[in-house]
Amino acid sequence: MKTWFKQYEKLQNETEKEALARKICAALTVHAKIEEEIFYPALRKSIDDDELLDEAEVEHASAKQLIAEILSMSPQDHLFDAKVKVLGEYVMHHVQEEEQEMFPEARKSDVDLDALGVKLSKRKAELMKKAA
Ligand SMILES: [Fe+2]
Repeated sequence: MKTWFKQYEKLQNETEKEALARKICAALTVHAKIEEEIFYPALRKSIDDDELLDEAEVEHASAKQLIAEILSMSPQDHLFDAKVKVLGEYVMHHVQEEEQEMFPEARKSDVDLDALGVKLSKRKAELMKKAA
């Protein structure tokens, strides 16, 4: 994901920019959906940190708002590049919090991460099939 955002910054061609921005948005939409459907509810039950999960949900909501705006625009539009860039910053921040705070708490809890992982990837495959 990080690579895609870096790659985007180097692009000049508008068709390529639009294609990559759409690819990024599609991947993030799937990420948000599977976490909201499966991962976050499971964590809410097993870890005692609602604040962390509330924050993550707000971050998803802001990202989805930006994604909707990007998808309704084209690279010629004012602020298109800026929106993609800010989306990248949101995502980096969000991923960092997930990796440094949420995953360690999940590992300490009694949640079955392997089973959850299987569920997540199944749902992901389903959603990607639908999007393709
Ligand atoms: Fe997330």
